[in-house]
Amino acid sequence: MKIKALKGVQDILPETIGQWDFLVSCSKNLFSVYGYQEIKIPLIEETNLFIRSIGEQTDIVEKEMYTFIDKGNRKISLRPEATASVVRAYLEHNLNQQGLAKLFYIGPMFRGEKPQSGRNRQFYQLGVEVLGSYSAYLDAEVIILAAEYIKKLGLKNFTLLINTVGCTEDKLNYSKLLKTYLEDKKDSLCENCNNRLGRNVLRILDCKRPSCKKIVNEAPQITNHLCEDCTDHFNDVKNALDEIKINYTVDPYLVRGLDYYTKTVFEIAHKDLGAQNAICAGGRYDNLIKDLGGPQEGATGFAFGIERLLLAITAEKTDLSIKKQPTIYAIGLGSVAQKKIFQIVQTLRSKNIRLTTSFEEKSLKAQMKQANKLNCEYTLILGDDELEKDSIMLRDMQTGEQELITINNLTTNLNKRLSSL
Ligand code: HAM
Repeated sequence: MKIKALKGVQDILPETIGQWDFLVSCSKNLFSVYGYQEIKIPLIEETNLFIRSIGEQTDIVEKEMYTFIDKGNRKISLRPEATASVVRAYLEHNLNQQGLAKLFYIGPMFRGEKPQSGRNRQFYQLGVEVLGSYSAYLDAEVIILAAEYIKKLGLKNFTLLINTVGCTEDKLNYSKLLKTYLEDKKDSLCENCNNRLGRNVLRILDCKRPSCKKIVNEAPQITNHLCEDCTDHFNDVKNALDEIKINYTVDPYLVRGLDYYTKTVFEIAHKDLGAQNAICAGGRYDNLIKDLGGPQEGATGFAFGIERLLLAITAEKTDLSIKKQPTIYAIGLGSVAQKKIFQIVQTLRSKNIRLTTSFEEKSLKAQMKQANKLNCEYTLILGDDELEKDSIMLRDMQTGEQELITINNLTTNLNKRLSSL
């Protein structure tokens, strides 16, 4: 029996790596323009970190974490997200010493969710966190950064949804109000929503069932029940976005599946992705630094899901203009030629020329076929005739033209041809 990859985890194959690297390098360039520095955080953390940050009664913590007891009897979890770890690192390494900390990260996260298109158990996030400020401008800045990034990828079919969930007090008051409203309609809500009613009522706003959605659409809106400070903050964020002419829609029922959010929350939905259409999500979390043992400081951030971005790029047939690096296929016919081609290949590679070869005792025809399959721009062919003349045959795979080149001139000749591609 062959062993297959686990359900919900994906191999990223070489054919996708060009797009993947483009997404990553584009994010690194843009994020650094906005003053972010990269941080690499561990894949594993004490389970408690996630319980204290994401929230004990969230789906992630209740049902989805990969948790185990290690040999030292410690409870460890694979990270389901990165914000908690970034805050832990910020506090552990006193990253607040230089004022505002602006950090970005790229890496895999793990959640034991039911797999479907765009929902994996191991998925990659690319995100930013700004720690140490309450400014509404920073909320706007991270939202603008997310929108700019998507535009840089050439994506168009997306919508930016924003909302506020208020401060802790606002959240509590609104939860009570919502609960009172929903209690009456309990019988029409799905089982999941009924479960959430007593424990995490805000999550009912997230239910995708049409019958629940209908009830939610008439529920009280948090934006009408905010304290003055949270109302002002939300207005400031919207005004800052308006100044830069960023298109957004206020979705008064937008809530997030992680408990740490306060005030601004946002989501970027892609129109072609079906049920799992959030390509990016984020928001402010003004209590998390304190909840994890630090001072009372504000923070905000977001994360993109890389697999979902790739799905969006495929759906929109976006041309990322990824330039293929030219490759040459080297063929040695017979054992003497093979020995010589082995040396030639090494010399050329030391001059940064990209070559591949199979070293198989196969016919010229079979090897040419292989070069074609690999999309090589040129082949180098060394047989007895060429060996005798201290030369090698160079074939242009596109035109079929061939030229006999002396081995001494090979590097110069190839560099000239490759630079003109
Ligand atoms: P999140 O909404 O849980 O937020 O995830 C952010 C993004 O990760 C989602 O919008 C989606 O693109 C991707 N994602 C989440 N779960 C999966 C999955 N099972 N399969 C594929 N992609 C997925 C957070 O994780 C927050 N830490 C974001 C944040 C940063 N908030 C403030 N700072």
